[in-house]
Amino acid sequence: MRIPFLSFEETNKVIKTEILNVFEEFFDRGWYVLGNYVTQFEHGYAEYNKVGHVVGVSNGLDALHISLKALNIGTGDEVIIPSNTYIATALAVSYVGATPVFVEPDINTYNIDPLKIEAAITSKTKAIIPVHLYGQACEMEAIMSIAKKYKLFVVEDNAQSQGASYNGRLTGSFGQINGTSFYPGKNLGALGDAGAVTTNDAELARKATVLRNYGSAKKYYNEVIGYNMRLDECQAAILSVKLKYLSEWTKQRQEIASWYNNALDGIPDLILPAIADKATHVYHLYVVRTKHRDKLQKHLSDNGIGTLIHYPVPPYLQEAYKHLGYKNGSFSIAEEIANTCLSLPLWPGLKAEDVDLISDSIKSLLM
Ligand SMILES: Cc1ncc(COP(=O)(O)O)c(C=O)c1O
Repeated sequence: MRIPFLSFEETNKVIKTEILNVFEEFFDRGWYVLGNYVTQFEHGYAEYNKVGHVVGVSNGLDALHISLKALNIGTGDEVIIPSNTYIATALAVSYVGATPVFVEPDINTYNIDPLKIEAAITSKTKAIIPVHLYGQACEMEAIMSIAKKYKLFVVEDNAQSQGASYNGRLTGSFGQINGTSFYPGKNLGALGDAGAVTTNDAELARKATVLRNYGSAKKYYNEVIGYNMRLDECQAAILSVKLKYLSEWTKQRQEIASWYNNALDGIPDLILPAIADKATHVYHLYVVRTKHRDKLQKHLSDNGIGTLIHYPVPPYLQEAYKHLGYKNGSFSIAEEIANTCLSLPLWPGLKAEDVDLISDSIKSLLM
């Protein structure tokens, strides 16, 4: 590929020396699980995310799983999630024995439509998981007020949106307890799997801390049936280095998105990202939509440009969820997005010339 969908080359160049130094320090320290690097990163990320507590865990899926478990959500309960999210959101609900209940997104922002949430609430509903998809904050004020009215918990899925905000407040700080992912390709990515729980509630933070470590606060004493879902010391050390660059890399993502917005404006049949009032977008992904999606993806690939589809099959249509009984047509907006969306290359360090080349290639097909 002339321009790959994702490349770490530019960001890796910036941090290579620091990472190698911290790795050597970590290696020499000889303490590899739940030590100072995890604590240091938890404090750093809490400060960044403006939350009281961060609990480092093994990945984003486990962060959501632990969050739901800490809220005592379980068998017989229902949890509202968007119909167009990544499968992980649904899996976390299933892991605790609850049922995911899907609500359609807004066709403009691709985030859960607050106007459609109330109709999905039943006597079994315990929580809403808004997913800040592609990097844009959900309409959190409307969601929080519905949750308050029906006494539901909110667990934000902040895997794709570190640094996004709604009305000036950062995603990952609205819900009672929230999960985020540091999968390598995320805006803040480790060099392997990693994730975190964020919360302002000290008791929920304590529960998450116990759950991630065999249900134990004191070595060899287990108060609940917990898991081994700890954040590795090595990943925490790396994340602390990368966290220092997150704001700069976010700015770069936003600038690259503005280059795309300018270059792609006015192309027939091409829908560009739209941002809701009061929301910010940190462009984990730059997603366009067109009814010529498959042709466009092939055309770009033929021209050496990598793209991906996020996501080709909505969670409720996955084989894994066939027992829920949904079918094609169950959620028409999610399916419209799945059938028309295409994520273009966007990573810190992507050059203006690259964006021009990609945009020209798109124009040569669609104009
Ligand atoms: C929206 C969303 N939720 C949850 C996850 C799960 O994160 P992880 O891959 O770290 O388990 C992801 C990651 O791909 C995601 O995109």
